[in-house]
Amino acid sequence: MNFVSDDYYYLKAKYKGYRSRASYKLLEIEQKFSIFQKNQIVLDLGAAPGGWSQVASKKVGKNGKVLAIDKAYISPFKEENIEIINKDIFDEELKDLIEENYGEIDVLLSDCSPNISGDYSRDHFTQIYLANRALDLSQSLLKSEGCFVCKLFQGKELQDFTNKVKESFEAIKLFKPKSSRKKSAEIYIIGLKLRKHN
Ligand SMILES: C[S@@+](CC[C@H](N)C(=O)[O-])C[C@H]1O[C@@H](n2cnc3c(N)ncnc32)[C@H](O)[C@@H]1O
Repeated sequence: MNFVSDDYYYLKAKYKGYRSRASYKLLEIEQKFSIFQKNQIVLDLGAAPGGWSQVASKKVGKNGKVLAIDKAYISPFKEENIEIINKDIFDEELKDLIEENYGEIDVLLSDCSPNISGDYSRDHFTQIYLANRALDLSQSLLKSEGCFVCKLFQGKELQDFTNKVKESFEAIKLFKPKSSRKKSAEIYIIGLKLRKHN
């Protein structure tokens, strides 16, 4: 039996022309929290193969922009408002590159995840490490009242990370989309309205 083609969201994504089933997680987040508006600039960290970028591209429209960042190769998009930046999110030049070329960002998304090792606590810590980098970037690149969405794995460090996000955003929510596999420990944190400390 082919388990992959058994997956409802996988098949739906294929049918709709999305590059990954992950698109449906972002669509659910958008439906619940209304994070996007037309003409916004969106930073999509860990964007490959590109399902989230496709969703964001449509939401911000042709006068908006999506910066799709991944250390892995992303094949070119037909959507003209998506730019690919092939970089590791820990690249020291990334912050300046974004600031100098695109200015302040409206929405920062991170669906980054490590290669799963099978050692749960190791994967959880690596995930938190990626999430902390995404939060740091959101604090320096987002405009005041900007929005943050980040993948986490449930576990020991979740509460501390949630508290950190709480300090920077006026409201936070933890959300498990229906399209996220039930057995997966992933959960998303949504930070609404960045408090900018100048
Ligand atoms: C679950 S996939 C993202 C799926 C994507 N949101 C979509 O809709 O198609 C996670 C991605 O995180 C990326 N990633 C993990 N660590 C990274 C890092 N340090 N810098 C950049 N990308 C990273 C991986 O290369 C992988 O492509």
